Amino acid sequence: MSSKRRVGVLGLGHVGLPTALGFAELGWTVAGTDSDRSKVESVSAGVPPFYEPGLEELLRRHLTSGRFRALPEIGEAVRQSDILFICVGTPHREDGSADLSQVEGAARTVAENLDSYKLIVEKSTAPVMTALWVERAIQRYGNRQHAFEVACNPEFLREGTAVHDFLHPDRIVIGANSERARSWLRELYEPLGRPMLITDRNSAEMIKHASNAFLALKISFINMVSDLCEAAGASAQDIATGLGLDPRIGAHFLQAGIGYGGFCLPKDLKAFIHVAEELGVNFGLLREVERINQGRIDRFVRKVQQALWVLQDKQLAVWGLAFKPQTDDIRDAPSLHVVRRLRQAGASVRLYDPAATQEFRRVFAEEPDRLVYCSSALEAARGAHAVLVLTEWPEFGEMDWKQVRGCVALPIVVDGRNFLDAAALRAEGFEYHRMGEASLVPDGIKI
Ligand code: UGA
Repeated sequence: MSSKRRVGVLGLGHVGLPTALGFAELGWTVAGTDSDRSKVESVSAGVPPFYEPGLEELLRRHLTSGRFRALPEIGEAVRQSDILFICVGTPHREDGSADLSQVEGAARTVAENLDSYKLIVEKSTAPVMTALWVERAIQRYGNRQHAFEVACNPEFLREGTAVHDFLHPDRIVIGANSERARSWLRELYEPLGRPMLITDRNSAEMIKHASNAFLALKISFINMVSDLCEAAGASAQDIATGLGLDPRIGAHFLQAGIGYGGFCLPKDLKAFIHVAEELGVNFGLLREVERINQGRIDRFVRKVQQALWVLQDKQLAVWGLAFKPQTDDIRDAPSLHVVRRLRQAGASVRLYDPAATQEFRRVFAEEPDRLVYCSSALEAARGAHAVLVLTEWPEFGEMDWKQVRGCVALPIVVDGRNFLDAAALRAEGFEYHRMGEASLVPDGIKI
Protein backbone atom coordinates (compact mmCIF):
# COMPACT_ATOMS: atom_id res chain seq x y z
CA MET A 1 0.00 0.00 0.00
CA SER A 2 1.52 3.25 -1.10
CA SER A 3 -0.13 5.48 1.51
CA LYS A 4 -1.43 5.23 5.05
CA ARG A 5 -4.65 7.03 4.25
CA ARG A 6 -7.37 6.11 6.73
CA VAL A 7 -10.91 5.33 5.64
CA GLY A 8 -14.05 6.21 7.60
CA VAL A 9 -17.53 4.87 6.86
CA LEU A 10 -20.61 6.65 8.22
CA GLY A 11 -23.52 4.22 8.33
CA LEU A 12 -23.15 0.47 8.86
CA GLY A 13 -26.14 -0.78 6.89
CA HIS A 14 -26.42 -2.88 3.74
CA VAL A 15 -24.05 -0.52 1.88
CA GLY A 16 -21.79 0.77 4.65
CA LEU A 17 -20.79 -2.48 6.30
CA PRO A 18 -19.83 -4.41 3.14
CA THR A 19 -18.01 -1.27 1.92
CA ALA A 20 -16.08 -0.83 5.17
CA LEU A 21 -15.08 -4.48 5.30
CA GLY A 22 -14.31 -4.53 1.59
CA PHE A 23 -11.81 -1.70 2.04
CA ALA A 24 -10.32 -3.53 5.04
CA GLU A 25 -9.96 -6.62 2.84
CA LEU A 26 -8.07 -4.48 0.30
CA GLY A 27 -5.59 -3.60 3.05
CA TRP A 28 -6.87 -0.22 4.24
CA THR A 29 -7.45 0.76 7.85
CA VAL A 30 -11.14 1.47 8.31
CA ALA A 31 -13.25 3.01 11.07
CA GLY A 32 -16.99 2.44 10.78
CA THR A 33 -19.70 4.18 12.75
CA ASP A 34 -23.47 4.49 12.92
CA SER A 35 -25.96 6.62 14.83
CA ASP A 36 -27.64 3.39 15.94
CA ARG A 37 -25.62 2.31 18.99
CA SER A 38 -27.02 -1.22 18.97
CA LYS A 39 -25.68 -1.67 15.42
CA VAL A 40 -22.21 -0.53 16.47
CA GLU A 41 -22.25 -2.87 19.47
CA SER A 42 -23.38 -5.81 17.40
CA VAL A 43 -20.75 -5.14 14.71
CA SER A 44 -18.03 -4.71 17.36
CA ALA A 45 -19.01 -8.09 18.77
CA GLY A 46 -18.55 -9.67 15.32
CA VAL A 47 -22.25 -10.04 14.51
CA PRO A 48 -23.56 -8.26 11.39
CA PRO A 49 -26.98 -6.67 12.09
CA PHE A 50 -28.45 -8.30 8.94
CA TYR A 51 -27.87 -11.42 6.89
CA GLU A 52 -25.50 -11.11 3.95
CA PRO A 53 -23.48 -14.08 2.67
CA GLY A 54 -19.77 -13.90 3.57
CA LEU A 55 -20.17 -10.75 5.68
CA GLU A 56 -19.80 -12.31 9.11
CA GLU A 57 -16.60 -14.09 8.10
CA LEU A 58 -15.15 -10.87 6.70
CA LEU A 59 -16.17 -8.95 9.81
CA ARG A 60 -14.51 -11.42 12.16
CA ARG A 61 -11.40 -11.51 9.98
CA HIS A 62 -10.92 -7.76 10.09
CA LEU A 63 -11.82 -7.28 13.73
CA THR A 64 -9.00 -9.74 14.32
CA SER A 65 -6.61 -8.21 11.77
CA GLY A 66 -7.25 -4.84 13.42
CA ARG A 67 -7.95 -3.22 10.05
CA PHE A 68 -11.60 -2.59 10.96
CA ARG A 69 -13.11 -1.03 14.07
CA ALA A 70 -16.66 0.09 14.80
CA LEU A 71 -16.68 3.31 16.81
CA PRO A 72 -19.71 4.42 18.84
CA GLU A 73 -18.86 8.12 18.55
CA ILE A 74 -19.40 9.46 15.03
CA GLY A 75 -17.19 12.50 15.60
CA GLU A 76 -14.30 10.27 16.57
CA ALA A 77 -14.66 8.25 13.36
CA VAL A 78 -14.59 11.53 11.39
CA ARG A 79 -11.50 12.83 13.17
CA GLN A 80 -9.69 9.53 12.72
CA SER A 81 -10.24 9.37 8.93
CA ASP A 82 -8.84 11.02 5.82
CA ILE A 83 -11.49 9.76 3.39
CA LEU A 84 -15.06 9.55 4.66
CA PHE A 85 -17.77 7.59 2.91
CA ILE A 86 -21.34 8.66 3.60
CA CYS A 87 -23.39 5.44 3.54
CA VAL A 88 -26.51 6.50 5.42
CA GLY A 89 -30.09 5.78 4.36
CA THR A 90 -31.95 7.82 1.74
CA PRO A 91 -35.54 6.56 2.12
CA HIS A 92 -38.32 8.08 0.05
CA ARG A 93 -40.87 10.57 1.28
CA GLU A 94 -44.60 10.48 0.65
CA ASP A 95 -44.19 12.49 -2.61
CA GLY A 96 -41.49 10.11 -3.93
CA SER A 97 -38.58 12.47 -3.31
CA ALA A 98 -35.53 11.22 -1.43
CA ASP A 99 -35.40 12.06 2.27
CA LEU A 100 -31.88 13.43 2.63
CA SER A 101 -32.03 14.28 6.33
CA GLN A 102 -29.57 11.53 7.24
CA VAL A 103 -27.16 12.75 4.55
CA GLU A 104 -27.40 16.28 5.88
CA GLY A 105 -26.91 14.96 9.42
CA ALA A 106 -23.74 13.17 8.33
CA ALA A 107 -22.48 16.33 6.57
CA ARG A 108 -23.07 18.40 9.71
CA THR A 109 -21.20 15.91 11.88
CA VAL A 110 -18.31 16.02 9.42
CA ALA A 111 -18.39 19.85 9.52
CA GLU A 112 -18.28 19.88 13.32
CA ASN A 113 -15.33 17.50 13.45
CA LEU A 114 -13.20 18.68 10.57
CA ASP A 115 -9.68 18.86 11.98
CA SER A 116 -7.61 18.47 8.78
CA TYR A 117 -8.15 18.20 5.01
CA LYS A 118 -10.64 15.42 4.33
CA LEU A 119 -12.26 13.95 1.25
CA ILE A 120 -15.97 13.33 1.82
CA VAL A 121 -17.46 10.76 -0.53
CA GLU A 122 -21.18 10.41 -1.14
CA LYS A 123 -21.84 6.69 -1.58
CA SER A 124 -25.50 6.51 -0.59
CA THR A 125 -27.78 6.66 -3.62
CA ALA A 126 -28.99 10.23 -3.80
CA PRO A 127 -30.41 12.63 -6.38
CA VAL A 128 -28.22 14.63 -8.71
CA MET A 129 -26.70 17.68 -6.98
CA THR A 130 -26.57 16.03 -3.54
CA ALA A 131 -22.75 16.28 -3.50
CA LEU A 132 -23.10 20.00 -4.07
CA TRP A 133 -25.47 20.27 -1.11
CA VAL A 134 -23.18 18.19 1.09
CA GLU A 135 -20.39 20.62 0.23
CA ARG A 136 -22.59 23.60 1.09
CA ALA A 137 -23.70 22.02 4.35
CA ILE A 138 -20.12 21.39 5.46
CA GLN A 139 -19.22 24.98 4.57
CA ARG A 140 -22.22 26.37 6.45
CA TYR A 141 -21.91 24.33 9.60
CA GLY A 142 -18.11 24.02 9.77
CA ASN A 143 -15.50 26.37 11.21
CA ARG A 144 -13.93 27.00 7.76
CA GLN A 145 -10.46 26.41 9.19
CA HIS A 146 -9.74 23.27 7.20
CA ALA A 147 -10.06 22.52 3.52
CA PHE A 148 -12.20 19.62 2.35
CA GLU A 149 -13.69 18.25 -0.85
CA VAL A 150 -16.79 16.29 -1.72
CA ALA A 151 -16.83 13.55 -4.34
CA CYS A 152 -19.37 11.01 -5.46
CA ASN A 153 -18.66 7.30 -5.76
CA PRO A 154 -21.97 5.45 -6.20
CA GLU A 155 -22.32 1.89 -5.00
CA PHE A 156 -23.60 -0.93 -7.17
CA LEU A 157 -23.84 -3.60 -4.48
CA ARG A 158 -26.72 -6.04 -4.67
CA GLU A 159 -28.13 -7.50 -1.49
CA GLY A 160 -27.29 -11.17 -1.25
CA THR A 161 -24.02 -10.71 -3.16
CA ALA A 162 -22.76 -7.45 -1.66
CA VAL A 163 -19.36 -8.77 -0.56
CA HIS A 164 -18.70 -10.36 -3.92
CA ASP A 165 -19.90 -7.22 -5.72
CA PHE A 166 -17.56 -5.00 -3.72
CA LEU A 167 -14.54 -7.17 -4.48
CA HIS A 168 -15.46 -7.84 -8.13
CA PRO A 169 -17.22 -4.73 -9.42
CA ASP A 170 -18.19 -4.33 -13.08
CA ARG A 171 -17.17 -0.71 -12.85
CA ILE A 172 -16.06 1.89 -10.36
CA VAL A 173 -17.57 5.31 -10.95
CA ILE A 174 -15.80 8.33 -9.51
CA GLY A 175 -17.33 11.79 -9.75
CA ALA A 176 -14.89 14.41 -8.51
CA ASN A 177 -13.88 17.99 -9.18
CA SER A 178 -10.18 17.96 -8.41
CA GLU A 179 -7.19 15.84 -9.33
CA ARG A 180 -6.44 15.29 -5.64
CA ALA A 181 -9.89 13.78 -5.01
CA ARG A 182 -9.69 11.64 -8.15
CA SER A 183 -6.23 10.31 -7.32
CA TRP A 184 -7.14 9.49 -3.71
CA LEU A 185 -10.14 7.48 -4.85
CA ARG A 186 -8.23 5.83 -7.68
CA GLU A 187 -5.56 4.76 -5.21
CA LEU A 188 -8.16 3.36 -2.83
CA TYR A 189 -9.64 1.08 -5.48
CA GLU A 190 -6.38 0.32 -7.32
CA PRO A 191 -5.95 -3.14 -5.70
CA LEU A 192 -9.16 -4.30 -7.42
CA GLY A 193 -7.73 -3.75 -10.89
CA ARG A 194 -11.19 -2.98 -12.29
CA PRO A 195 -12.28 -0.38 -14.87
CA MET A 196 -12.79 3.09 -13.44
CA LEU A 197 -14.96 5.74 -14.99
CA ILE A 198 -14.08 9.27 -13.95
CA THR A 199 -16.81 11.87 -14.37
CA ASP A 200 -18.11 15.07 -12.83
CA ARG A 201 -20.16 14.70 -9.65
CA ASN A 202 -23.61 15.25 -11.19
CA SER A 203 -22.96 12.59 -13.81
CA ALA A 204 -21.76 10.07 -11.24
CA GLU A 205 -24.93 10.62 -9.22
CA MET A 206 -27.06 10.29 -12.31
CA ILE A 207 -25.31 7.07 -13.43
CA LYS A 208 -26.53 5.39 -10.27
CA HIS A 209 -30.14 6.54 -10.53
CA ALA A 210 -30.27 5.79 -14.24
CA SER A 211 -28.83 2.29 -13.66
CA ASN A 212 -31.48 1.32 -11.13
CA ALA A 213 -34.23 2.91 -13.22
CA PHE A 214 -33.08 0.96 -16.27
CA LEU A 215 -33.04 -2.32 -14.33
CA ALA A 216 -36.59 -1.63 -13.14
CA LEU A 217 -37.60 -0.80 -16.70
CA LYS A 218 -36.22 -4.12 -17.97
CA ILE A 219 -38.19 -6.02 -15.33
CA SER A 220 -41.45 -4.20 -16.08
CA PHE A 221 -40.88 -4.70 -19.80
CA ILE A 222 -40.51 -8.47 -19.47
CA ASN A 223 -43.50 -8.57 -17.13
CA MET A 224 -45.67 -6.95 -19.79
CA VAL A 225 -44.31 -9.37 -22.38
CA SER A 226 -45.15 -12.12 -19.91
CA ASP A 227 -48.79 -10.96 -19.71
CA LEU A 228 -48.90 -10.91 -23.49
CA CYS A 229 -47.52 -14.45 -23.57
CA GLU A 230 -50.29 -15.60 -21.25
CA ALA A 231 -52.90 -14.06 -23.52
CA ALA A 232 -51.38 -15.29 -26.77
CA GLY A 233 -50.18 -18.72 -25.70
CA ALA A 234 -46.41 -18.18 -25.83
CA SER A 235 -43.67 -18.81 -23.26
CA ALA A 236 -42.22 -15.82 -21.41
CA GLN A 237 -39.23 -17.92 -20.46
CA ASP A 238 -38.40 -18.67 -24.10
CA ILE A 239 -38.94 -15.05 -25.11
CA ALA A 240 -36.52 -13.91 -22.37
CA THR A 241 -33.93 -16.41 -23.60
CA GLY A 242 -34.41 -15.23 -27.18
CA LEU A 243 -34.11 -11.57 -26.20
CA GLY A 244 -31.13 -12.17 -23.94
CA LEU A 245 -29.08 -13.80 -26.69
CA ASP A 246 -28.86 -10.40 -28.36
CA PRO A 247 -25.85 -8.79 -26.66
CA ARG A 248 -27.41 -5.36 -27.18
CA ILE A 249 -30.24 -6.42 -24.88
CA GLY A 250 -28.42 -8.79 -22.51
CA ALA A 251 -29.80 -11.77 -20.62
CA HIS A 252 -29.97 -10.27 -17.14
CA PHE A 253 -33.08 -8.83 -15.49
CA LEU A 254 -35.48 -10.51 -17.84
CA GLN A 255 -37.02 -12.81 -15.26
CA ALA A 256 -40.78 -12.29 -15.31
CA GLY A 257 -42.73 -12.70 -12.09
CA ILE A 258 -44.29 -10.78 -9.24
CA GLY A 259 -42.10 -7.74 -9.82
CA TYR A 260 -39.22 -5.95 -8.19
CA GLY A 261 -39.09 -5.09 -4.49
CA GLY A 262 -36.44 -4.22 -1.94
CA PHE A 263 -35.13 -0.98 -0.57
CA CYS A 264 -33.42 0.23 -3.76
CA LEU A 265 -35.23 -0.17 -7.06
CA PRO A 266 -38.67 1.09 -5.89
CA LYS A 267 -37.34 4.11 -3.99
CA ASP A 268 -34.67 5.05 -6.54
CA LEU A 269 -37.20 4.94 -9.34
CA LYS A 270 -39.51 7.24 -7.38
CA ALA A 271 -36.64 9.61 -6.60
CA PHE A 272 -35.46 9.67 -10.22
CA ILE A 273 -38.97 10.51 -11.46
CA HIS A 274 -39.16 13.24 -8.84
CA VAL A 275 -35.79 14.70 -9.83
CA ALA A 276 -36.85 14.74 -13.49
CA GLU A 277 -40.08 16.54 -12.64
CA GLU A 278 -38.27 19.09 -10.49
CA LEU A 279 -35.99 19.78 -13.42
CA GLY A 280 -38.95 20.17 -15.78
CA VAL A 281 -38.46 16.88 -17.65
CA ASN A 282 -41.44 14.60 -18.12
CA PHE A 283 -40.12 11.07 -17.56
CA GLY A 284 -43.55 9.46 -17.85
CA LEU A 285 -41.91 6.28 -19.12
CA LEU A 286 -40.73 5.57 -15.59
CA ARG A 287 -44.17 6.21 -14.10
CA GLU A 288 -45.42 3.46 -16.38
CA VAL A 289 -42.62 1.16 -15.17
CA GLU A 290 -43.83 1.76 -11.62
CA ARG A 291 -47.49 1.27 -12.50
CA ILE A 292 -46.72 -2.06 -14.19
CA ASN A 293 -44.77 -3.23 -11.17
CA GLN A 294 -47.57 -2.34 -8.77
CA GLY A 295 -49.98 -4.35 -10.91
CA ARG A 296 -47.95 -7.55 -10.47
CA ILE A 297 -49.45 -8.31 -7.07
CA ASP A 298 -52.99 -8.22 -8.49
CA ARG A 299 -51.96 -10.39 -11.35
CA PHE A 300 -50.43 -12.99 -9.04
CA VAL A 301 -53.34 -13.03 -6.59
CA ARG A 302 -55.71 -13.44 -9.53
CA LYS A 303 -53.66 -16.42 -10.66
CA VAL A 304 -54.00 -18.00 -7.23
CA GLN A 305 -57.71 -17.31 -7.33
CA GLN A 306 -58.04 -18.86 -10.79
CA ALA A 307 -56.25 -21.96 -9.54
CA LEU A 308 -58.37 -22.36 -6.40
CA TRP A 309 -61.63 -20.66 -7.37
CA VAL A 310 -62.52 -19.51 -3.81
CA LEU A 311 -59.85 -18.33 -1.36
CA GLN A 312 -62.10 -18.08 1.71
CA ASP A 313 -61.00 -20.65 4.33
CA LYS A 314 -58.18 -22.04 2.18
CA GLN A 315 -54.81 -22.96 3.69
CA LEU A 316 -52.03 -21.48 1.58
CA ALA A 317 -48.33 -22.20 1.94
CA VAL A 318 -46.11 -19.22 1.12
CA TRP A 319 -42.53 -20.16 0.35
CA GLY A 320 -40.22 -17.15 0.40
CA LEU A 321 -40.75 -13.80 2.12
CA ALA A 322 -37.49 -11.95 1.40
CA PHE A 323 -37.60 -9.59 -1.61
CA LYS A 324 -34.94 -11.78 -3.22
CA PRO A 325 -32.90 -14.85 -2.18
CA GLN A 326 -29.84 -14.73 0.12
CA THR A 327 -31.13 -11.89 2.25
CA ASP A 328 -33.40 -11.44 5.27
CA ASP A 329 -34.60 -8.10 3.90
CA ILE A 330 -38.34 -7.73 3.40
CA ARG A 331 -38.45 -3.99 2.77
CA ASP A 332 -40.96 -3.42 -0.03
CA ALA A 333 -41.02 -7.16 -0.65
CA PRO A 334 -43.90 -8.43 -2.83
CA SER A 335 -44.64 -10.97 -0.05
CA LEU A 336 -45.95 -8.19 2.23
CA HIS A 337 -48.63 -7.23 -0.28
CA VAL A 338 -49.44 -10.76 -1.39
CA VAL A 339 -49.94 -12.04 2.17
CA ARG A 340 -52.18 -9.08 3.06
CA ARG A 341 -54.30 -9.70 -0.02
CA LEU A 342 -54.63 -13.41 0.66
CA ARG A 343 -55.79 -12.76 4.20
CA GLN A 344 -58.27 -10.14 3.04
CA ALA A 345 -59.71 -12.83 0.78
CA GLY A 346 -60.23 -15.03 3.84
CA ALA A 347 -57.33 -17.47 3.43
CA SER A 348 -54.96 -18.68 6.17
CA VAL A 349 -51.30 -18.52 5.36
CA ARG A 350 -48.48 -20.85 6.40
CA LEU A 351 -45.21 -18.96 5.94
CA TYR A 352 -41.68 -20.15 5.44
CA ASP A 353 -38.45 -18.35 4.51
CA PRO A 354 -34.91 -19.56 5.22
CA ALA A 355 -33.81 -16.13 6.54
CA ALA A 356 -36.57 -13.51 6.66
CA THR A 357 -39.22 -15.02 8.95
CA GLN A 358 -38.20 -12.99 11.99
CA GLU A 359 -38.42 -9.70 10.11
CA PHE A 360 -41.79 -10.66 8.65
CA ARG A 361 -43.15 -11.64 12.05
CA ARG A 362 -42.08 -8.24 13.39
CA VAL A 363 -43.98 -6.38 10.64
CA PHE A 364 -47.13 -8.44 11.21
CA ALA A 365 -46.84 -8.45 15.03
CA GLU A 366 -50.03 -6.38 15.40
CA GLU A 367 -52.04 -8.47 12.96
CA PRO A 368 -51.02 -12.08 13.57
CA ASP A 369 -54.35 -13.76 12.85
CA ARG A 370 -54.41 -16.51 10.22
CA LEU A 371 -50.62 -16.50 9.91
CA VAL A 372 -48.63 -19.58 10.88
CA TYR A 373 -44.82 -19.38 10.86
CA CYS A 374 -43.12 -22.62 9.87
CA SER A 375 -39.57 -23.84 10.23
CA SER A 376 -39.34 -25.63 6.89
CA ALA A 377 -40.87 -25.54 3.43
CA LEU A 378 -42.35 -28.97 4.01
CA GLU A 379 -43.97 -27.92 7.26
CA ALA A 380 -45.52 -24.91 5.52
CA ALA A 381 -46.89 -27.18 2.80
CA ARG A 382 -48.63 -29.47 5.32
CA GLY A 383 -52.38 -29.44 4.66
CA ALA A 384 -52.06 -26.60 2.13
CA HIS A 385 -54.53 -26.21 -0.71
CA ALA A 386 -51.76 -24.56 -2.75
CA VAL A 387 -48.06 -23.75 -2.41
CA LEU A 388 -47.15 -20.21 -3.53
CA VAL A 389 -43.53 -19.41 -4.36
CA LEU A 390 -42.63 -15.75 -3.79
CA THR A 391 -38.81 -15.90 -3.58
CA GLU A 392 -36.52 -18.12 -5.62
CA TRP A 393 -34.46 -19.56 -2.73
CA PRO A 394 -32.36 -22.42 -4.13
CA GLU A 395 -33.79 -24.95 -1.65
CA PHE A 396 -37.23 -24.62 -3.26
CA GLY A 397 -35.72 -25.77 -6.53
CA GLU A 398 -34.33 -28.86 -4.82
CA MET A 399 -37.51 -30.06 -3.12
CA ASP A 400 -38.49 -33.71 -3.18
CA TRP A 401 -41.87 -33.24 -4.85
CA LYS A 402 -43.02 -36.74 -3.97
CA GLN A 403 -42.61 -35.80 -0.32
CA VAL A 404 -44.38 -32.48 -0.85
CA ARG A 405 -47.19 -34.32 -2.64
CA GLY A 406 -47.56 -36.51 0.44
CA CYS A 407 -48.30 -33.64 2.78
CA VAL A 408 -50.36 -31.08 0.82
CA ALA A 409 -54.16 -31.12 0.75
CA LEU A 410 -54.23 -30.30 -2.96
CA PRO A 411 -51.31 -30.64 -5.40
CA ILE A 412 -51.29 -27.07 -6.69
CA VAL A 413 -48.23 -24.82 -7.01
CA VAL A 414 -48.34 -21.18 -8.12
CA ASP A 415 -44.84 -19.95 -8.88
CA GLY A 416 -44.46 -16.17 -8.73
CA ARG A 417 -40.83 -16.36 -9.84
CA ASN A 418 -41.05 -18.84 -12.74
CA PHE A 419 -38.34 -20.75 -11.05
CA LEU A 420 -39.41 -24.34 -10.50
CA ASP A 421 -38.93 -27.27 -12.85
CA ALA A 422 -42.33 -27.63 -14.50
CA ALA A 423 -41.64 -31.18 -15.72
CA ALA A 424 -40.63 -32.42 -12.24
CA LEU A 425 -43.79 -30.99 -10.71
CA ARG A 426 -46.13 -32.27 -13.37
CA ALA A 427 -44.50 -35.72 -13.17
CA GLU A 428 -45.62 -35.85 -9.52
CA GLY A 429 -49.16 -34.88 -10.47
CA PHE A 430 -48.95 -31.21 -9.48
CA GLU A 431 -51.00 -28.58 -11.20
CA TYR A 432 -48.29 -26.00 -11.85
CA HIS A 433 -49.07 -22.35 -12.56
CA ARG A 434 -46.45 -19.78 -13.44
CA MET A 435 -46.33 -16.19 -14.65
CA GLY A 436 -46.29 -15.73 -18.41
CA GLU A 437 -47.97 -19.01 -19.22
CA ALA A 438 -51.65 -19.73 -19.56
CA SER A 439 -52.43 -22.29 -16.86
CA LEU A 440 -53.55 -25.70 -18.00
CA VAL A 441 -55.46 -27.69 -15.40
CA PRO A 442 -55.38 -31.50 -15.65
CA ASP A 443 -58.68 -31.78 -17.50
CA GLY A 444 -57.14 -29.71 -20.27
CA ILE A 445 -59.07 -26.52 -19.66
CA LYS A 446 -57.00 -23.39 -20.20
CA ILE A 447 -57.47 -20.85 -17.39
C1 UGA B 1 -30.25 -3.19 -6.80
C2 UGA B 1 -29.27 -3.13 -8.00
O1 UGA B 1 -29.35 -4.36 -8.72
C3 UGA B 1 -27.84 -2.90 -7.52
O2 UGA B 1 -26.98 -2.75 -8.65
C4 UGA B 1 -27.80 -1.60 -6.69
O3 UGA B 1 -26.51 -1.34 -6.19
C5 UGA B 1 -28.76 -1.75 -5.51
O4 UGA B 1 -30.08 -2.00 -6.02
C6 UGA B 1 -28.72 -0.48 -4.74
O5 UGA B 1 -29.14 0.55 -5.27
O6 UGA B 1 -28.18 -0.47 -3.63
P1 UGA B 1 -30.92 -5.08 -5.04
O7 UGA B 1 -31.95 -4.14 -4.55
O8 UGA B 1 -30.06 -5.78 -4.05
O9 UGA B 1 -29.89 -4.34 -6.04
O10 UGA B 1 -31.67 -6.20 -5.85
P2 UGA B 1 -31.79 -6.66 -7.39
O11 UGA B 1 -30.95 -7.84 -7.60
O12 UGA B 1 -31.62 -5.51 -8.29
O13 UGA B 1 -33.31 -7.13 -7.41
C7 UGA B 1 -34.35 -6.18 -7.18
C8 UGA B 1 -35.71 -6.82 -7.33
O14 UGA B 1 -35.95 -7.13 -8.70
C9 UGA B 1 -35.89 -8.14 -6.57
O15 UGA B 1 -37.16 -8.13 -5.94
C10 UGA B 1 -35.82 -9.19 -7.65
O16 UGA B 1 -36.56 -10.34 -7.33
C11 UGA B 1 -36.45 -8.45 -8.83
N1 UGA B 1 -36.02 -8.98 -10.14
C12 UGA B 1 -34.74 -8.96 -10.52
C13 UGA B 1 -37.01 -9.45 -11.01
O17 UGA B 1 -38.22 -9.47 -10.70
N2 UGA B 1 -36.62 -9.93 -12.25
C14 UGA B 1 -35.33 -9.93 -12.65
O18 UGA B 1 -35.06 -10.35 -13.79
C15 UGA B 1 -34.35 -9.44 -11.76
